[in-house]
This record gives sequence, structure tokens and C-alpha cells, in this order.
Amino acid sequence: MQWVHQRIVTFLHADPAHYASILTGSGVTAAVNRIASGMAALRPERDVVLVSMMEHHSNDLPHRQHAGMVEHIPLEVEGTYAGVVDLHALEQLLEQYKGRVNYVSVTGVSNVTGIINPIGRIAALVHRYDAYLLVDGAQMVAHMPVYLERDDIDLFVFSGHKIYAPGSPGVLVGKSSLLSQLEPHQLGGGMVNLVTPYSYQLEESLEAREEAGTPNIFGAVILACALEVLDQIGMDSVFTQEQTLIEQVIKSLSDSPGLKIYGDTDSTRRVGSIAFNIAGLDHGLVAALLNDYYGIAVRNECFCAHPYVKEMLKEELFSLDIEASSEEEELFLVNLKRGMVRASFGLYTTADDIVALGDALRDIVKKRQYYLALYEPQQDGSYQHTHFNPAAEALFDLKQVLAERLS
Ligand SMILES: Cc1ncc(COP(=O)(O)O)c(C=O)c1O
Repeated sequence: MQWVHQRIVTFLHADPAHYASILTGSGVTAAVNRIASGMAALRPERDVVLVSMMEHHSNDLPHRQHAGMVEHIPLEVEGTYAGVVDLHALEQLLEQYKGRVNYVSVTGVSNVTGIINPIGRIAALVHRYDAYLLVDGAQMVAHMPVYLERDDIDLFVFSGHKIYAPGSPGVLVGKSSLLSQLEPHQLGGGMVNLVTPYSYQLEESLEAREEAGTPNIFGAVILACALEVLDQIGMDSVFTQEQTLIEQVIKSLSDSPGLKIYGDTDSTRRVGSIAFNIAGLDHGLVAALLNDYYGIAVRNECFCAHPYVKEMLKEELFSLDIEASSEEEELFLVNLKRGMVRASFGLYTTADDIVALGDALRDIVKKRQYYLALYEPQQDGSYQHTHFNPAAEALFDLKQVLAERLS
């Protein structure tokens, strides 16, 4: 476990003498909850937490539960495009709540648009107000190098499944000077060195104190191995390659009539994913078509970031005539309120994949009427093909596979 902890910290370009890593259980969610409750207990007089408008719910709701008050930091807006966290607005909030802000929490990279926040500049600003900075690194770790010490990040969280590790141990990395002030979260075996019927003495080591019980050793070791592989590939080259793909996809989709990309389209400020809609076609139908006819897996709806997605859709909802003239249009309006389509990139994504996505989307726009007639919208927002509907068992039947293999 010692190797695991050190491997995590050094992957993030920090010195294990200054930073510690703690495995917190289920994903980023567990790590953020740990910080939200721990920081509220550490500085109860600082009852305000500032959270950006582009957060995944996991980096918003835990603060709402534990802080006295959460204020949302607006984003820069260029024309109709939402961009990074607005530093000017952040400064105004820090000034307004001077002496009350416990910490500021922002995502390193948006899980919807892939927009990269300037976390080094945010840290410098936040520290001027004696507040701490928590960075949600879920979408950052596998797509770009992270420099915890250079950027002076106090707390950083990520999940195993975002870095190609099976399972999803949550990881919390932070300055040891801060983490050591938090009261242990869970008590039990493995985190104490002396227990009497009346008292107990905690382990010296931060990692041991924070990881009570039998750790998920296998999950932790695999996670650190995945980081080792990423380091060997080189995060600088992963980043450069992804930015080339992002530039290619933005160019391809921007040139296509009827396609709208959400968020600032400056490709140098993005990594990892892109969210879009096709005018007049519900995101659920576009996702189903990409899957069924073009073999492209995407996600649709709001990606656990309702406030951010709604904010970006607001403009076009207002500009649309809400009086729908047909049932089809009404359905489109209702569903548009609920989301977008998102394509995500990984180590395995190639330039050919981007070409395939662009071609597929242009083909869908062309065959819009044909496809609309082939699908039935479902209550849950998904779309069902009218005559191609294989049961899951027809594709994979576990009992049958086991019977064949064991016979
Ligand atoms: C930016 C971001 N934050 C938080 C999360 C939540 O992560 P987990 O499910 O590991 O708690 C995700 C997951 O998609 C994410 O993309």
C-alpha cells in the first residue's frame, strides 16, 4: 500500500513529503463527501463554500449537505458560449463573503464539454482569501498532466474507473499539513495503535488513520499500476494527441449544418469530450441511431450535471417558439430541455473515429425523416426501433455460456 500511495502522489507531480493520498471507497463521490464533512467540522466559522456552475453533482451536492451555504460561481460567456470559471465573478464572491469562505471547489475539466479550468490561477486567487481549493480531477487525470505542487492545489480527487482501472476506488490527494488537521472519518481496525476500554490512540501515518478496516488492496494496486502505464505512455503526449483529436472534431462538427456544439469551442481549452445536439432531433434518438446504425457509443441527457446543461440549453429554449406546431416538435422541445449528446475520447480514440463520427452525424441529418419514422420514443426518454429489438438474452445468455464452458 505504501507503493500505491507514493505512486499516486508522484503521478500528480507532487512530493510525498508534502502531499498524501487516501483511498476513500466509491469514486470521487466518497472523496468529496469526506472533504465536505471534514472541512465543515474543521472550520465551522467559515460556513460558505463556492462551487462552480459546471460541476458534476458529486462535486456539488456533498457541499450543499455539509456547508452552511453554497454559492455557485458563474462561467465566462463568449457570445452564447459558456467557457471556464469566471475569475472576476469568483473574486467578487470571495470579497462578498470575506472571512467566511472555507474552500472553493471546481472541476479541472468539465465532464460535459471537456473545457479545462485554469486551476493554477484559481488557486492563487482563492489563497489570497485564506480559503482552500478542492479540484475535482475525475476528467483530468487520464487526459492531461496534473501539477499539484506547481499549481498549489490543496485537495484533489479522482476515481479509478476514469484511468482505465477496473472497479473504482475513490482517491483523495491533499497537502499533508491540511489533511492531518481533519478528524478521522471512520473508526475501526488498522488505524489505531493502542486501544483500552476508555481510550484509543490513532496511528501516526495519515494514510493508516484515514483507511480504517481492510483496504481494497487489489483495487488499490491495480489503480496504481494503471497510473504507472499512463506515466510510461507519457501524459504530455496523451494530452497533445487528444487536443489534435478535439481540434479535428470541432472543425468537423462546426462545418456541419444543423449541428450545435456546446461551450467555448477553442480547442486549446478542451480535452476529453464534446457535447452537441442536432437541430430538430432529440438527443435520445441521435444516441440510439449512432449506436444502432453506425456502431458509435455515446452518452446522452445531462451527464449528472443538470445545472450546467440547463444553463447551456436555456438560451435556445428561450429562442424557440414554445408553441409546438406538431406532436413531433413538441416531443423535441420537451426532450431538448433534458439534454445533449456527448462523445468522449480515450487512449484508444483515433483520427478515423472522428471522421466516422462526423460522417455519421451528417448522414443522420440527411436521413432525418427516414429515421424518425423508424423509432418510437419511450417514457424514459430512450428510443426503441420499431422492428429491430433483440432481447438481451439473444445477444448474451450467461446461463447458456456457462453451460457450454463447463460441460
Ligand atoms: C467530473 C466528474 N466528477 C465526478 C464524477 C463522479 O465520479 P464517481 O462516480 O467516481 O463518484 C464524475 C463521473 O462521471 C465526473 O465525470
